[in-house]
Amino acid sequence: MADLTADLGFIKLKNPVIPASGTFGYGGEFLQFFDLDLLGAFVMKGVYTDERGGNEPPRIWETPSGLLNSIGLAGPGAEGLTKIIKDVASKTSTPIIVNVCGGTDEEYLEVARILDVMKEVAMLELNISCPNVRAGGSCPAQSSSDTRRVVKLVKENTEKPLIVKLSPNVSDISSIARSAEEAGADAISVVNTFLGLALDIEKRKPVFKNFFAGLSGPAIKPLALKIVWEVANAVSIPVIGIGGIMTGRDVLEFILAGAAAVQTGTVNIVEPTGSVRIISETLELMDELKINNLEEIRGGLKI
Ligand code: FUM
Repeated sequence: MADLTADLGFIKLKNPVIPASGTFGYGGEFLQFFDLDLLGAFVMKGVYTDERGGNEPPRIWETPSGLLNSIGLAGPGAEGLTKIIKDVASKTSTPIIVNVCGGTDEEYLEVARILDVMKEVAMLELNISCPNVRAGGSCPAQSSSDTRRVVKLVKENTEKPLIVKLSPNVSDISSIARSAEEAGADAISVVNTFLGLALDIEKRKPVFKNFFAGLSGPAIKPLALKIVWEVANAVSIPVIGIGGIMTGRDVLEFILAGAAAVQTGTVNIVEPTGSVRIISETLELMDELKINNLEEIRGGLKI
C-alpha cells in the first residue's frame, strides 16, 4: 500500500488532506460524522482578538460549480477560542492549525501570541487574504511590502510554524509569496477565495451587502492549480494547495503541481464526510498508478 504521509519539513502529516479554515468550524462539529484522527490536520476558522458577529446575511450563495461566501470572519475571539481548542484537542491527536486574523499588525500579533503558548495548537495560519472584511476586498496579501511586514512581525514573536495564506486577487503572486518566505514564513497556503459578484436582477442590487464575495469550489480548481504551480516554482518552502478539491485525483494533481499537502474547502460544506472519502480515494489512486509516496510526484510535472 502507498505511503500517504505528507512532509511539510517542520511536521510530517499522516496524510495530505487538511480541511480549510471556515469550512470545518472548529473541528468538533464534525465529530458526529467521523473521527478527526483520520485527517492529516485541520484548520480552525479564523479569529480576531475579540468576538465578531460577521457580515449581514446573506453570507453564502451557490454558483455553477462553486460557492460565494461573505461570512466576515465571525468568531468567538482568541481567548474564547482557547477553551474550544482545549476541548477539541482532548478528542483528537490530529494537529490543529488556527487561522489568525487581524485588523492591524498589532492585532495579528496579539492573536498569534495568545495561541502561541497553547500546546494544543500545532501551527498558525496567518490569514492576510480574507476578501470579505475590508472595502473592495483589499487585504495585506495584496502587497509584497504589507505581506513582508506582517509576516516578519508575527514570525519574530512566535514559536509555532507559520503558514501564510495568500490571496489569488493579485497580479504577481510569485513575488508576494517570495516576500512571505523572506520574512520567515514556514509554508504558503494558496489560494484563498477569488473575488466575485452575485447580482439580484429583480432588485437590481448586488446579493451581498459587502458587494463582492469570495468564490470557492470546483469552479476555481484550474485557476488554483495554476497559482500553486507558480508559487511552488517561486519559493523553496512547502506549498499547501487549496481550490476546489473534491476527489483523490484532485489531490494528486495539486501534488504534481508542487503542493506538499492540500486543504479541502467547499467539499466539507456540501458533503461533511468528503475529506475522509478524498483521503481513501487518494490512497486508492496512488496504488492504481503505482505511486509509492507523495514525494515521488510532488512538483514532478513533465514539461
Ligand atoms: O468571510 C470570511 O469569513 C472569509 C474568510 C476568508 O476567506 O479568509
